[in-house]
Amino acid sequence: MSPSNESIIVVGCGVTGLSVATLLQSEYPSAVLTIIAAEIPTGHSPTADYASMWAGAHYRPTRGSTPQLKQEFDMAVRTAGRMKRIAHDHPEAGVEFMQGVEYLEDPPTEFSSIKTGDVYAGPEDGFRVLDQTELPTGVEWGCEYRCYCVNVSVYLKWLLDRFMSKGGRLIQHRLSDAQEAFEYAQKIGLGKVSTVVNCSGRNFDQDPKTKIIRGQTVLVKQQHHQTVTRQCRDGSWAFLIPRPRGGGTIVGGTKEIGDPEEQPRPEAREKLLRNAVDFFPDFVDSIDRFVVLKDNVGRRPWREGGYRFQTESVGPDKRIVHGYGAGGRGYELSWAAAEKIVALVAASVPANARL
Ligand SMILES: Cc1cc2nc3c(=O)[nH]c(=O)nc-3n(C[C@H](O)[C@H](O)[C@H](O)COP(=O)(O)OP(=O)(O)OC[C@H]3O[C@@H](n4cnc5c(N)ncnc54)[C@H](O)[C@@H]3O)c2cc1C
Ligand SMILES: *[C@@H]1O[C@H](CO)[C@@H](O)[C@H](O)[C@H]1NC(C)=O
Ligand SMILES: *[C@@H]1O[C@H](CO)[C@@H](O)[C@H](O)[C@H]1NC(C)=O
Repeated sequence: MSPSNESIIVVGCGVTGLSVATLLQSEYPSAVLTIIAAEIPTGHSPTADYASMWAGAHYRPTRGSTPQLKQEFDMAVRTAGRMKRIAHDHPEAGVEFMQGVEYLEDPPTEFSSIKTGDVYAGPEDGFRVLDQTELPTGVEWGCEYRCYCVNVSVYLKWLLDRFMSKGGRLIQHRLSDAQEAFEYAQKIGLGKVSTVVNCSGRNFDQDPKTKIIRGQTVLVKQQHHQTVTRQCRDGSWAFLIPRPRGGGTIVGGTKEIGDPEEQPRPEAREKLLRNAVDFFPDFVDSIDRFVVLKDNVGRRPWREGGYRFQTESVGPDKRIVHGYGAGGRGYELSWAAAEKIVALVAASVPANARL
């Protein structure tokens, strides 16, 4: 098989599938690339299952000593590097760098060793541990650094436009599972396909390690100038995420494991707005001053142990490369995840059909 007719299908048009498709395209310009997805960024009223439409989305680094957290730290820093170039070269992509602030009421013990000047979000992030006198009441540890926020609908459309303008194809269709993509490709005349990349979030629901984490947020008209996160002692979180390019601010957010409710709960909205007034009074100082644009409910595609990056052989010269399970971090890990998935695709194509 010659490189020019290697046909690859990416299932999924969320931030993971789009990043993978874009990267495959730039590294292997002669491959024929098709995205098949039930939901796409230009569709109307996305369902709660299309997680990428419901993210804040900000980059909030996390530290930790488990292998998963360590790997994710490296992935986040790599992704931040690429996002920096995108924000600089393509302001229309909806990615903007700004100040990030964190307030922790109950910091993990390892936070006591973090010092001003450490790499927290990436190189040259201006990381600074806040002085005790700068902390709001009830907060034990705080910091600030440079990070980025994403206007998600603008960013996904930007990725998709680039992919299509370079010859990528998009087919909107619901499959019963990733395996079905092989037969579907034959049926619609895509030619012989040996590799299907499975970036379906958690929506096929066959992997017992995946779970929903429901997230409810409120989009308000007021525009904040920085992204702020407060971790509360009871395990809940409050955050503000500005949507770059005048999209208002996301006030969040809940993290409800296994909760399938698709409708916004009015009492949750009330609590999110009240917390924002209590914790971030320099944003909006009274609950009736908020101009609410929208209640959002999304399902984070969480997976125990993190992403599944794996090649599965499903028949003679047929393989599925899995790349799903981003949980609550699909944007901030996106480019590093895409690099890993693309490396698996490249390694799995037989030597005589190298891309
Ligand atoms: C409230 C909330 C706040 C969040 N905040 C942040 C944040 O601040 N920062 C951050 O990095 N992340 C955040 N996230 C997480 C982020 O949204 C996800 O990690 C990310 O969107 C996952 O992307 P994905 O492409 O893997 O999956 P998805 O976006 O779910 O995309 C899956 C794709 O697969 C397609 N698909 C599924 N089933 C089928 C089928 N049967 N046939 C064909 N196609 C199918 C879908 O249609 C879709 O195109 C947040 C999430 C929520 C809900
Ligand atoms: C593809 O990904 C989904 C998660 O959305 C997973 O449940 C499924 O097992 C994977 N494999 C196939 C063949 O669909
Ligand atoms: C994204 O930014 C545009 C402006 O470019 C704005 O009109 C839109 O409301 C924003 N979208 C969201 C969902 O915030």
